[in-house]
Amino acid sequence: MNLNSKLPKVKTSIFTTMSALAKKHKAINLSQGFPDFPSDPTLIDLVTKAMKDGYNQYSPMQGSFTLREQIAQKFNLLYQTSYHPETEITISAGATQAIFTIVAAFIHKDDEVLIFKPAYDCYEPAIKLHGGKSILVQLETPHYKVDWNAVAKIITNKTKMIIINTPHNPCGTIWSKEDMLALENLVKNTNIIVLSDEVYEHIIFDGKQHQSACLFPHLKERTFIVASFGKTFHNTGWKMGYCAAPVELMTEYRKVHQYNVFSANHPMQIGIAEYLKNAENYLNIHSFYQEKRDFFLDAIQGSRFEFVPSNGTYFQLLNYKNITEENDIDFAEKLVIKNKIACIPLSPFNANNLDTKMLRFCFAKKEETLQRAAEILCAI
Ligand SMILES: Cc1ncc(COP(=O)(O)O)c(C=O)c1O
Repeated sequence: MNLNSKLPKVKTSIFTTMSALAKKHKAINLSQGFPDFPSDPTLIDLVTKAMKDGYNQYSPMQGSFTLREQIAQKFNLLYQTSYHPETEITISAGATQAIFTIVAAFIHKDDEVLIFKPAYDCYEPAIKLHGGKSILVQLETPHYKVDWNAVAKIITNKTKMIIINTPHNPCGTIWSKEDMLALENLVKNTNIIVLSDEVYEHIIFDGKQHQSACLFPHLKERTFIVASFGKTFHNTGWKMGYCAAPVELMTEYRKVHQYNVFSANHPMQIGIAEYLKNAENYLNIHSFYQEKRDFFLDAIQGSRFEFVPSNGTYFQLLNYKNITEENDIDFAEKLVIKNKIACIPLSPFNANNLDTKMLRFCFAKKEETLQRAAEILCAI
């Protein structure tokens, strides 16, 4: 049978590959981005209560109104901006589903979508499946700064969307106010939609402020903000997220969402809504993760890896050029098999799988896990 694959070049993702390899070789797993510590028991109790209270059937298509109200209040508190809970916020089955649905709702055949590389891996397949063309802008190690003059030259009348991600997975970089203003200036008075992947909005370090797209009026009017409760509340397995956008954009999004997923997990929405009422539950996440970043970086000071401290997310890039000339995939595999530590090589995130001798380590782990990992890294 000729299946005529729509994604002939797509293989099993590097996350699945490295996690499976880590399991097989009983290695410490700092590859896939998930915590090895539990979610807050209060949140678990709230979700359990929601189940016991009978919230076990479909939620409204847009998501529970109570949760959307809480999200609207969070936007108000953090960014002094308003999204109408009725028409401008939709709950999704994780950020991934929101991203896929946004692309499905807006990308026509031959539309161009600008992506800054390295980039999280779910953007390009979604674009390809809908006939769009990914236009890749490769950023350079170690600071991954955007050259906005160069970007301006790549924009054409076919550019339908720009996907941005700050704080950034895999680089751990954040965009400054100047970056956001440059983007705003570029898209003002165009028909370009911005997809702003802000799943790590609460994980930002050293007193820096998250520059959400909603803070910039000409960005906000054309932007979908995508968020993930899995990242914020240490429960990636729940696959809960949301997106926010002005009503005209959200109306189009919901036309697809209702057939793509219809609605997300109901009791979890009710539990999270209750949990969000206490802002302390998300306001201190940055210091919790900053301690982990600092612990990990202190512990690997004596190693031969080079690094620029992560500014946000729970990922740290390490450069191994002082250790070997090997390509990053081979070296990462060797680290699992020989040294019993798993990470993610960066080349699959880069344009043309560019090998920059960079590895990504997830520090959303208990101190003892990070300590053991650091001992291994220092011995390499
Ligand atoms: C940048 C980025 N966007 C989106 C996602 C997907 O989030 P979710 O697990 O809520 O689908 C991830 C998960 O790792 C991510 O790192």
